[in-house]
Amino acid sequence: MLQDTFGRTHDYLRISLTDNCNFRCTYCMPVEEMQWMPSSKLMSKDEILKMAEVFVSLGVNKIRLTGGEPLVRKEFPEILAGIAKLPVESTLTTNGVLIHKHIQNLKSAGVRSVNVSLDTLNREKFHKLTRRDQFDLVWENINLLLQEGFRVKINAVALHGMIEEEICDFVRVTEKLPLHVRFIEFMPFAGNHWSSKQVVTAKQMLALAETEFTVEKLEDKKHDTAKKYKVPGFAGTFAFITTMSEHFCGECNRMRLTADGKMKNCLFGKDELDLLAALRAGEDVVSLIKKSVSIKHAALGGQFSSDYLKADPDKIDNRSMITIGG
Ligand code: GTP
Ligand code: 5AD
Ligand code: SF4
Repeated sequence: MLQDTFGRTHDYLRISLTDNCNFRCTYCMPVEEMQWMPSSKLMSKDEILKMAEVFVSLGVNKIRLTGGEPLVRKEFPEILAGIAKLPVESTLTTNGVLIHKHIQNLKSAGVRSVNVSLDTLNREKFHKLTRRDQFDLVWENINLLLQEGFRVKINAVALHGMIEEEICDFVRVTEKLPLHVRFIEFMPFAGNHWSSKQVVTAKQMLALAETEFTVEKLEDKKHDTAKKYKVPGFAGTFAFITTMSEHFCGECNRMRLTADGKMKNCLFGKDELDLLAALRAGEDVVSLIKKSVSIKHAALGGQFSSDYLKADPDKIDNRSMITIGG
């Protein structure tokens, strides 16, 4: 069991399969062009599966595949099939654009739930934000996932000046479709030019939803990132991921492995232990994993003062989101 000094058990691993992506979302990657990691630096399929096995032997029971965009990794089907053989819940976070090519792989691997990033319901805004004109395909793929019986969560990053006019549209979509929309407070990462002025808080978003709907608070589960709500009678739900206004680090059970095999004990932590180098050198990976968990900070990687919205993005030492995987 992987327990940190604050008594938190770590049983959820997020593995980034690649830092590459077929979209170019401005809030996620450095505005300056990205240098993709060379493939020699990436964990190979077998190294990923070996790492997953080691983490499972230490008590991990949920593995989420992330990116960049996990579905652009060529060996995605084999990696997923390998993970699916382990006694874990396997899942992924994707931009949705390649889902139609992988629906069978997801079904065969027993994946039940998929998180799809979709920040707007407007085709032009989508094109501008992702720098790709693929809204229709993503929307078709979300519907395909629903038809095939997957539980689908939509991740919408809340950018000031953009999300406000769409909150009610997103909630309305949950009337007929059993979608679980999560509005995510915009977070600072290397190169994304975050400023507190661009953050729309959960409280502000809830107030906007309440201008049109009567909403009911739902019970949240222990390790949930999201605070859930629903409009009574609607098929789906909506929720807020409140990292910036009210973090949920107290119940954190997460660890991350970057595509180049570095273990991060927190989304915001700058501590990275090189598991891949150890694996390649035949050294002890387990003790490095335990060390990483043991040095985890109480909250937000120890990088923010208590007033998060006053955070100075230049002082936050971290990777870009696209190389972490969320
Ligand atoms: P579920 O397991 O379905 O609840 O998904 P998830 O929220 O764990 O993962 P997902 O990849 O869908 O991430 C949604 C948003 O939550 C992204 O913006 C992530 O960066 C953020 N998120 C995920 N894990 C953490 C975390 O440990 N801390 C913080 N602060 N945010 C997180
Ligand atoms: N702030 C909040 N969420 C972000 N994501 C990417 N960048 C950011 C950011 N700066 C979200 C993506 C994806 C998830 C893994 O993280 O939309 O759904
Ligand atoms: Fe790619 Fe997702 Fe990042 Fe957008 S948010 S650039 S889709 S990894």
